[in-house]
Amino acid sequence: MRVRASAKLAQSLDRGWTLPASWYTDPAVHREEKNRIFHRAWQYAGLTDDLRNHGDFLTYQAGDVPILVVKDAKGSLQAYINVCRHRGSVLVNQERGRRKSIQCGYHAWTYALDGTLLAAPGENGEPEFDRADFSLIPAQVDTWGPFVFVNPDEGARPLAEYLGPLPQMVSDTGLDLRGIRLARRDTYDIAANWKVVLDNYLECYHCPTAHPAFSHLIDLDQYEIQEFPYFSAQSGPVLANAREGREGLYEIGPGVESGFYAYFWPNFTLNIYPGPGNVSLNLILPIDADHTRVIYEYCFVDSVDEAAVDEFHAFLDQVQREDIALCESVQRGLHSGFVDQGRLLLSRESALRHFQKLVYRSLTQ
Ligand code: FES
Ligand SMILES: [Fe+2]
Repeated sequence: MRVRASAKLAQSLDRGWTLPASWYTDPAVHREEKNRIFHRAWQYAGLTDDLRNHGDFLTYQAGDVPILVVKDAKGSLQAYINVCRHRGSVLVNQERGRRKSIQCGYHAWTYALDGTLLAAPGENGEPEFDRADFSLIPAQVDTWGPFVFVNPDEGARPLAEYLGPLPQMVSDTGLDLRGIRLARRDTYDIAANWKVVLDNYLECYHCPTAHPAFSHLIDLDQYEIQEFPYFSAQSGPVLANAREGREGLYEIGPGVESGFYAYFWPNFTLNIYPGPGNVSLNLILPIDADHTRVIYEYCFVDSVDEAAVDEFHAFLDQVQREDIALCESVQRGLHSGFVDQGRLLLSRESALRHFQKLVYRSLTQ
């Protein structure tokens, strides 16, 4: 059936054929992806800036698993499955905030920030009830610079093993992640499968047709793609005309020399555009087989002023809107039943193959 290992499919992926259309449209495949990818992988959940003080929290949805990250009294980050041990209500529904303790909104079971159950109203005299049996269930949390990652799987290998050389490659661009601050956060809802959104991210073959502004910025003839076990990176130098300000784009100025665009398995991308310190983060959240929510976080170093942030934000928002139209068009086409496997141009689209093979491996092993 849909996600059984098949030597024929594996070989076709190697040769540049895409995953079958049903993998992008079938709710059963989507359920498998939640179980085998999103319930087991490290996922970017937010910025350490949101977790500076005792009691600060943020929430994240890893497939069907809600996760809560809190800063505890000792100053460490703790992550829990964000589900009450009484009868399973999601505990914290806000995205971010600060709390002294975690109280369920249903019957007011109250947990300390270290996850222990402090009180269950009416518990006195209840036979065989021991609060110690009902601590919150831990999840994994770790950081890379200002980025907080979570993993619902307690047995998963450490984040650093998956990141490999990515942190070094980011620092080699010249951007100092310690200096960045969040300036804007946008949410886009897209009527396309999450893999369509990432496929689109992973090639710039479409850039000359679809992104005139981007194509006037980056030298696509010198565009490079590198692949690692759990991430891939695309990079390209700025065109001379853009550097000299003749293309009417955002003001580039001094700073990072090349565009650097990294995809980290399964649903995080990190984009560094030429110019003064900026990094934009995209979090790709599957909603169902046909819908995806993308969260864009625009971060800058303090020296970038408000007008430059506006200009850059408008530039990227335009690129993103162009991409959304493309992704939604692909999703409609995949539903037609007339294209099963597409054919990649591997000289331009090898990072899609890299991604699709990770999907294939995760669903079939
Ligand atoms: S479900 Fe949380 S207190 Fe009842
Ligand atoms: Fe694009």
